[in-house]
Amino acid sequence: MHNTFEHIKKDFPVLKDNTFAYLDTAATSQTPQSVIDAISDYYTNYRASIHRGLYPVAEKATQEYEKARERVAEFIHAGTDEVIFTAGATASSNMLVYALENTFDLQEGDEIVISITEHHASIVPLQEFARRKKLVMKYIPLANNFELDYNKAAELITERTKIVSVMLASNVLGTIHDISKIVALGHKVGAIVISDATAAVGHIPVDVHHLGVDFLYFSGHKICGPTGIGVLYGKKERLNSLYPGFFGGSMIDVVEKDRATWADDISRFEAGTSNIAGVIGLAAAVTYLEDIGGTKAIHSIVADLVEYAMQELKKIEGLTVYVEADVRKNTGIVSFTIDGIHPHDIAQIAGQNNVAIRAGHHCAMPLIEELGLSATARMSLYFYNTKNDVDRLILSLQKAVKTFK
Ligand SMILES: Cc1ncc(COP(=O)(O)O)c(C=O)c1O
Repeated sequence: MHNTFEHIKKDFPVLKDNTFAYLDTAATSQTPQSVIDAISDYYTNYRASIHRGLYPVAEKATQEYEKARERVAEFIHAGTDEVIFTAGATASSNMLVYALENTFDLQEGDEIVISITEHHASIVPLQEFARRKKLVMKYIPLANNFELDYNKAAELITERTKIVSVMLASNVLGTIHDISKIVALGHKVGAIVISDATAAVGHIPVDVHHLGVDFLYFSGHKICGPTGIGVLYGKKERLNSLYPGFFGGSMIDVVEKDRATWADDISRFEAGTSNIAGVIGLAAAVTYLEDIGGTKAIHSIVADLVEYAMQELKKIEGLTVYVEADVRKNTGIVSFTIDGIHPHDIAQIAGQNNVAIRAGHHCAMPLIEELGLSATARMSLYFYNTKNDVDRLILSLQKAVKTFK
């Protein structure tokens, strides 16, 4: 470990002066200097396109890009031929849905089973797929403890289920889902199982083979990497028979006037010029997370902060939290409401006091509706937060209560 968590804010230019309490990592994380340096190094010293140039900087760029693939693959325990770089979780999800549509001949009435907690990035592409093909969407509901209702999932997943999509952790509730149960149910009926791991990767150890999912995706900017870069993991056997979702340069083998064939390696899923700096920055972020102690240590420090936050939030009159009781099953997210105060007013008062939290539906409208709400306020914690950040939020919540009551 090259640093202690107490001093970690110094690694982050935006955080090092401690002028504001950043509690909005679930929207986007902050960037350590080492990631900024890696991106800057590419643009300053070896900017070139990859996989084609026969001159030294292009070879260096290709090497760094492919080294980054190895780094990211190792981080999620995937093979290098299972990691596709995309523009983010949303891009991964959309491309995957197009690829599935191009590969499988789904019939009217076939079913997609998805959890009620999903982000719009997962729901909407599948919904559009369902509309085009007249498929049926079914939702796994919540159980009482802000976990998924696994018994209900067992009823919903049937012989007609062709796709199951369940996120590894919720970006609203913070709950880490026990997706192995859902994976088993999906595979039993031969369905493809997808997991949005955007709120989990970088927070807890993720081993794609252990999870057993067919596809999994996440965004780099939530784990200290740059924006505009993401990953789509695909199990090798699935990728081998998957038709591409996006088409263009870099992914082909031969193009004739009326047909084309695809590259026989992972590049057939990376059409166009990649976000090379983004990939290099993402690998630097992964290296950073491992250098500070890895995701196990990160999860433990964040769970302690969640525990502290839960204890302090109890001091606020009329406040309700939407959180699994066991803080070890949480990735650092606490959604809450306060009686009589709109979540946007809570976030605004926090903002005026230099405390960054988020209010709204968090791109999970079906879940917010299921909770019987129109919005929540959400604090999201990461390893660079301290108890002092939580205290600053509590002070601003006390102000909000005074102002509105
Ligand atoms: C759980 C989850 N999935 C998917 C996304 C979409 O990520 P991006 O906007 O980076 O594509 C987000 C971002 O808010 C998220 O929190």
